[in-house]
Amino acid sequence: MKPIQAGLLGIGTVGSGVFHVLQRNQEEIRRRAGRGIEITMVADLDTARAQAVVGEGVQVVNDARAVIANPDIDIVIELIGGYRIARDLVMEAIAAGKHVVTANKALLAVHGTEIFEAAHRRGVMVNFEAAVAGGIPIIKALREGLTANSIEWIAGIINGTTNFILSEMRDKGLDFDVALKDAQRLGYAEADPTFDIEGVDAAHKATIMSAIAFGIPVQFDKAYVEGITKLGAQDIRYAEQLGYRIKLLGITKRSFDPATGALKGIELRVHPSLVPARRLIANVEGAMNAVMVQGDAVGTTLYYGKGAGSEPTASAVIADLVDITRLHTADAAHRVPHLAFQPDQMSDAPV
Ligand code: HSE
Repeated sequence: MKPIQAGLLGIGTVGSGVFHVLQRNQEEIRRRAGRGIEITMVADLDTARAQAVVGEGVQVVNDARAVIANPDIDIVIELIGGYRIARDLVMEAIAAGKHVVTANKALLAVHGTEIFEAAHRRGVMVNFEAAVAGGIPIIKALREGLTANSIEWIAGIINGTTNFILSEMRDKGLDFDVALKDAQRLGYAEADPTFDIEGVDAAHKATIMSAIAFGIPVQFDKAYVEGITKLGAQDIRYAEQLGYRIKLLGITKRSFDPATGALKGIELRVHPSLVPARRLIANVEGAMNAVMVQGDAVGTTLYYGKGAGSEPTASAVIADLVDITRLHTADAAHRVPHLAFQPDQMSDAPV
């Protein structure tokens, strides 16, 4: 069977990672998906740089709509970011009958309901594992591994930039402004870090998890959002003396009326939180992410890993590509990952 063809919109840090990991692990990915996956077209405003990343064999254009209009492209990967242009392109890709993979949490937190409804009507998939906690497969965990559970709450460190800053403040006794400058100098924080330090990025991700866990529309405008800009070295020190760490947590939970026990609604909030220092999640340091999920059947679960970066995020984007390939184009045997290996496909590597 010929490979499924994907078109990439935007080939920056994550897009380059997707291209390189797909190439490097091509054979294993083909076996797992039941069919090869190739990026055959890339749209980027900087065509020269994009061409240098992908080499001569891949068509590079500066117009994203040319990718969407290409009838050979089965999957559009949106890595442009932002709300407006990305929304239009994703809606156009869906209308054109393309499956979509996106890492764009801002887009989904704000326009997700409209996008998922359009995809449902058109019969295409919109996958977004990379939008929350980068390389940690938390969307898959919520949708698949924990699907038997009534989710009670989720609490996570889902912004690496702020976790790095808070770790620096604690380790070195720095105030927020100094730690932010360090983070920028070391490449952990953007030149404009507003979305990270004000908690907006974490709230986008918490909004998406909340929608999946509780089966509600994505409602970023209902989230309570507070960042870490008001914290000083003294706050961190006092917390430490009392046996706590301060972490910026994204929290979503069912909320009950204490008098009647009746469900009041769903809480969705991001704010600095005091976490007992003995908890595993309190010890998540630097730019790492971690998400705790409490299910009624499974109890507490914890997922840890890199929430950003080229290849960790690419890992999640490619997982989505493989899912779409399996579910929509591969033969039935490949719809169960790993059990789909045929004896003649098994590796001869010593065990
Ligand atoms: N700015 C984000 C972070 C990048 O610091 O976690 C990944 O979404």
